[in-house]
Amino acid sequence: QAASSLQQACEPFPYSEDEYAYVDWDNLGFGLMPTDYMYVMKCSENDRYKEGKISRYGNIELSPSAGVLNYGQGLFEGLKAYRKESGGLLLFRPDQNAMRMKFGAERMCMPAPSVDQFIDAVKQITVANKRWVPPPGKGSLYIRPLLMGSGPILGLAPAPEYMFLIYASPVRNYFKEGSAPLNLYVDDEYDRASRGGAGGVKTITNYAPVLKAIMSAKGRGFSDVLYLDSMNKKYLEEVSSCNIFLVKDKVISTPATNGTILSGVTRKSIIEIARDLGYQVEERAIPVEELMYADEVFCTGTAVVVAPVGSITYKDKKVEFRTDAEALSRKLYNTLVGIQMGVIEDKFGWTV
Ligand code: COI
Repeated sequence: QAASSLQQACEPFPYSEDEYAYVDWDNLGFGLMPTDYMYVMKCSENDRYKEGKISRYGNIELSPSAGVLNYGQGLFEGLKAYRKESGGLLLFRPDQNAMRMKFGAERMCMPAPSVDQFIDAVKQITVANKRWVPPPGKGSLYIRPLLMGSGPILGLAPAPEYMFLIYASPVRNYFKEGSAPLNLYVDDEYDRASRGGAGGVKTITNYAPVLKAIMSAKGRGFSDVLYLDSMNKKYLEEVSSCNIFLVKDKVISTPATNGTILSGVTRKSIIEIARDLGYQVEERAIPVEELMYADEVFCTGTAVVVAPVGSITYKDKKVEFRTDAEALSRKLYNTLVGIQMGVIEDKFGWTV
């Protein structure tokens, strides 16, 4: 179905079915590598999204007074397509991204595409850019859906028109550390989110404000920043681009999604995998002092996947964690990626 609507939506493919794009697949990082096509679907205020269209990847035209440019009325998502050994392509839980976008759109006063429209568009853009999906084991195609207030608005109000757009880029490791452990810095000066704010949804406005904290931490040799709750500066929240987990004995803990924590699709999947493997998983408020007693710490996210944390520095005190080959994070990573790549049976029914 995706392939036939694709044929209607875009010009004939200039490439043969099984051709790969000319890419150095052994040296992929997480940089933008523009692919052939993007997907665009528009709608006006109080209306529904109609037919979307695949077009050549390129710049888009926006009014200088577009809601997204002036007031940050925008959301984004991130999901990945993997190439199976047998040649087919697999998407991981696109319904979860679709539902999260709907939830976020409600918070940001925007109309959202339906779950079916979202998934159909993701399938179309994946098939259209199929030559950019890395060979098995070399990475994935990162798919980036955007939802934005594209119509012009001067007074502070929801924009009169909206654009749902998807582009894609082949990627591998998010951090320059590759799969080596991360060294995090607990920043108690900058906050990522506050109570009553929009930290729990994937609005674009959650990301630029942490750049200063990230740049400052990177300048001092850290991989990224771990934020604390803005009210008490006492409890763990999340890292700039991913969720955080602690392991102590057989118990895994992660901050509860209480409105300031992003409900990561990888976070949710790791909780389900860990419980299935017999671990106790607690979603709760985690005092920063608990870092001192943790055996292991790891981060989860679509871009990050499951990244082991080697150390965390808080108030000039550095705590180190286990990251060896037997660490639980490695087991969870292997199980998750095995399912995503189609090499481990997907008993959860997550892959599409
Ligand atoms: C993702 O993991 O997909 C994200 O959206 C994080 C982003 C900052 C790369």
